[in-house]
This record gives sequence, structure tokens and C-alpha cells, in this order.
Amino acid sequence: MHKTNKHRTFVVTGATSGIGLAVAEGLARQGAFLIGVGRDAGRCAEVEQRLGVAHPGARVRYLVADLALQSQVRALASAVRDELAACGVESLDGLVNNAATFTFYQTLTPEGFEMQWAVNHLAPFLLTHELLGLLQAAPAARVVTVSSGSHYHTRLRWGDIQLRRWYNPLLAYKQTKLCNVLFTAELRRRLGRGGTVRAFAADPGLVRTEIGLKGNPGLAGWIWTRRAAAGISAGESARGIVYLASEPSIQEAPELYWKHSHPKAPSPYALDPAVAHRLWELSARMCGVEPR
Ligand SMILES: NC(=O)c1ccc[n+]([C@@H]2O[C@H](COP(=O)([O-])OP(=O)(O)OC[C@H]3O[C@@H](n4cnc5c(N)ncnc54)[C@H](OP(=O)(O)O)[C@@H]3O)[C@@H](O)[C@H]2O)c1
Repeated sequence: MHKTNKHRTFVVTGATSGIGLAVAEGLARQGAFLIGVGRDAGRCAEVEQRLGVAHPGARVRYLVADLALQSQVRALASAVRDELAACGVESLDGLVNNAATFTFYQTLTPEGFEMQWAVNHLAPFLLTHELLGLLQAAPAARVVTVSSGSHYHTRLRWGDIQLRRWYNPLLAYKQTKLCNVLFTAELRRRLGRGGTVRAFAADPGLVRTEIGLKGNPGLAGWIWTRRAAAGISAGESARGIVYLASEPSIQEAPELYWKHSHPKAPSPYALDPAVAHRLWELSARMCGVEPR
């Protein structure tokens, strides 16, 4: 049975800019209890205040975490549990794994993982794992992971999955967006059809955001700006993700991959169960969790 969004609780990562901010706003507009996640305390405080004032019917709270670090992903999950418990809430209705980075120069996190691999793939894997108990306690819950059309025509480089030997920033990004679909497919298989949690991968389309500008050299930013100019607004893109996170009628929908509120076929490679299983086991080892 579905509750109305007014009483439903969502966690949205990367909720301080671009698509994630627009998703947060869309859910706040529906009167949800929204927990946004950002990496910058000042921006989190500013957005929390702004959304709270604009949407007085919602409950808006922002938590700070650098998702490049597994220690902070775990601390974030713990903070979410505390936040919900403090409000007497014992379940989570939706997790939107939206945060991602495009890192032009090869960068290792302090925990030793390639940056895009850590933020775009391992963080959603670990955060979902950490919050699954709360999601399973809801009558009908969603895990929406924001992928990309760039997952097409890509394969996993098993011999050098973090591209340590030959780093190509675009390939590293595309690979992690492929992982988002493989992760969602395997999560579905592991959850089975009997439970109350459903997982979807979202393709937001080409969107005018600043993802290609952040911390990248001028040429990369210039190329991204020209490309993104042909894209849609973050608000328009976010509608499809809010739909996946909250639309009651698609709870039993069998389709895995969605673009702008409509199912779409993902790449055939993303549907290979052996690849998804192998990725899951590898990710569990990298995150130090029991594969479940
Ligand atoms: N834009 C497109 O055309 C497009 C196309 C396909 C898929 N996507 C996907 O859409 C999603 C949103 O991207 P976007 O275009 O909206 O980009 P964006 O505006 O840069 O948003 C990315 C969000 O992730 C956050 N983030 C980045 N690194 C983080 C870290 N280490 N810890 C915590 N948060 C971190 C950013 O925080 P700050 O606000 O502090 O920067 C920001 O809130 C991503 O999954 C992306 O892959 C985008």
C-alpha cells in the first residue's frame, strides 16, 4: 500500500546542484520528508533553508558527506538512520543515487580508489547496502540510480577496472554509468519479486548542468559547455527521476531502465547476469561488505 508523498521519506544524493537539486525540489514540492546529501556544508545549509522556505509543507534536511570516501558513506547512512529515528520514522520510501563526478585527471581517493569509480559506482553500491534495512521496512520503496546514455557501447575492463594503467576520463565515466545499470539489474535479482523494494536505473538525457566543469581543465569544460547547451534543463530531466522514485503505479513494472518516465532498452551487455553478478561480488569485496 502506498502512502501519499506528504508522509514519505526520501534520500537524494548530489542534491546541491544540477539534476539532484531539481529532484530534491520536486520531492519537496510534493510535501515529502526529504533528506538531501551534499559534500559542501555551506551549500547544504543554503539549499536546506531555501527549499524549506519555498515548500513549507515538506520537511527538508540536508546531510554532508564526501561520497568518495566509504567511511563517509557509512557515517552518512548512520546519520540518516539517526535523523529518521529522531522524527519517529522507521522506514525509508526512496533512495535516489544521483551524485556523480567527471574527473579529467586520474585521481585516487585517500582510500586508494579511482575517483569516478568510488563516487559514481562504489558509493551507490555501499549506501544502498547500508540503507536496505530501512527501505525494506517501507510498504513500497524505491532505489533509483541515475545512469546515463553513455553506458551504451561500453564494456567493463576486468583486467584494469579502475583504469589504473591507462586512464581515460571519458571511458572511466562511461564504465561507471554502465555499472549503475548492472548494479540495478543485480539488485533486482537479489531482492526478488516478493519484497517491497523496487530498483530502477534512470537515464536523465543530456542536461545543462556543470558536471563537466567542476575541477576540470578549461578545454574539457569548454567542450562540455558546448555539448550541454543542446540539453534540457535540470528541472525537466528531474521529472522523470521523481516519477521513478514516487509514482505508485510503476511499483510492479518489470522494466529496468527508464528515460523521461518511459521504459527504454538498456545495452544488451548491461543485461548480462554473469557480468552483473561478477561486478556485485567485486564491489562487495571493495566495500568490505558481505554480498547479500
Ligand atoms: N548532465 C547530464 O547531461 C547528464 C547526462 C547523463 C547522466 N547524468 C548523471 O546525472 C547525475 C547528476 O549529474 P548532474 O549533471 O546534475 O551534475 P552536477 O550538477 O555536477 O551534480 C552532481 C552532484 O553530485 C555531487 N557530488 C559530486 N561529487 C561528490 C562527492 N565526492 N561527494 C558528494 N557529492 C558529490 C555534486 O556536489 P556539488 O554540488 O558540491 O558539486 C552535485 O550535487 C549524475 O549521476 C550524472 O552522471 C548527467
